[in-house]
Amino acid sequence: MRILISGGSGLLGREITKQLLSKKHEVAWLSRNPNKCPKGVLGFSWDPDQMQIDKAAIDFADAIINLAGANIAKSWTPHYKNEILRSRVDGTRLLFNTVRERGKALNSFVSASAVGYYPNSEEKTFSEEDAPGNDFLSLICQKWEQEAQSFESLNIRTIRLRIGIVLDPKEGALAQMAAPLKFGLGAPLGNGGQWMPWIHRVDVAALFVSAVENSDFATGVYNAVGPENHRNKELTKILAKTLKRPLLLPPVPKFVLKIMLGEMSAIALASTKTSNEKVLRTGFQYQFKSLESALKDLYLA
Ligand SMILES: NC(=O)c1ccc[n+]([C@@H]2O[C@H](COP(=O)([O-])OP(=O)(O)OC[C@H]3O[C@@H](n4cnc5c(N)ncnc54)[C@H](OP(=O)(O)O)[C@@H]3O)[C@@H](O)[C@H]2O)c1
Repeated sequence: MRILISGGSGLLGREITKQLLSKKHEVAWLSRNPNKCPKGVLGFSWDPDQMQIDKAAIDFADAIINLAGANIAKSWTPHYKNEILRSRVDGTRLLFNTVRERGKALNSFVSASAVGYYPNSEEKTFSEEDAPGNDFLSLICQKWEQEAQSFESLNIRTIRLRIGIVLDPKEGALAQMAAPLKFGLGAPLGNGGQWMPWIHRVDVAALFVSAVENSDFATGVYNAVGPENHRNKELTKILAKTLKRPLLLPPVPKFVLKIMLGEMSAIALASTKTSNEKVLRTGFQYQFKSLESALKDLYLA
C-alpha cells in the first residue's frame, strides 16, 4: 500500500515509517521541509499555515496517517498556544479539502489525538465513550478529532487514536523525566498520584500500522495506550531502578511546578487512567506489556 504520513519526520512518524517499510509498503512524508526525508521515503511539501499543499501527495496515497502538529512541550505563550491548535486543525482540514477535491477513495485515514482529551481524575478509568475535559489540551484534542471525523462523510474508514505517553529514551516525556534522574536529581511530580497511561514507541507505531492494514479497526476512536497504567510516583521509581540511580529527593510540589512551567504544568500533572480494552478486542498484540520490559528495552537492550 502507498501511505502518506503528515508530520512523518517526528518521533512517531519515524518509527511508523520504519515498520511500514519493513512490511514492503511505500511511504511518503508530507512535510514543511520535504528535503529532510530519508532514503526510500518520498517527500511532498505542504504549509498548513498558508493552506498550501502539493496535491500530488494525495494522488500518491492509498491511506493517510495524520500526525502533524506543533510540539506541545514548548512554552505556552498565547501565540504558541494558537500554533498548537492551528497546526492540527488547519492541517487536517487542508488534507480533507484536498482529498475531497481530488475525489480520492482512500483505504483509511488514521489520525493522532491524545488521552489529554479526557478530564483529570485519580479514580476513574477512561474509555473511548467518556466525555471530554474542558482544559486547553482537551479542547485541542476535541477540535482536532472533529476535523478528522469529517473524513467519515467521504465514506473513508476513519480512525482516531488517543495516544498516551509515548516511551522513548531520547525524545518526549520519558527523556525529560530520565534526565534529572541520571544526576541523582529525579523526583515524583506533584503528589505523584497522577495516572500516566504510557505506551512503548514500537507498540504505538504498530497500532498505527494495524489501523491502516486491518479493517477490524472500524471507523471510530481507540485509546492508544499500553496494557498497564502507572501512577507518576511508581513510574519514577521503576525508571530510577532501571537506570540504577537513587531516588533521593522529595516530590516536587504542585505550586513549584506551576511556577516553573506555568499553565504547561498541566502536562506533568495530568491524571488520565485509560483503558485499552477496545484495542485488545481488535486482536492487537502488544510487544511490551509491562513497564519494566518497556524500560529495559529502551535503556538496557
Ligand atoms: N509523543 C507523544 O507522547 C504523543 C502523545 C500523544 C499525542 N501525540 C501526538 O501525536 C503526533 C505525533 O507525535 P510526535 O511525538 O511524533 O510529534 P513530533 O515529534 O513533535 O513531530 C510532529 C511533526 O509535526 C510537524 N510539525 C511540527 N510543527 C508543525 C507546525 N507548526 N505545522 C505543521 N506541522 C508541524 C513536524 O514535521 P515537519 O517538520 O516535517 O513538517 C514534526 O516532525 C503529534 O501531533 C502529537 O501531539 C504524541
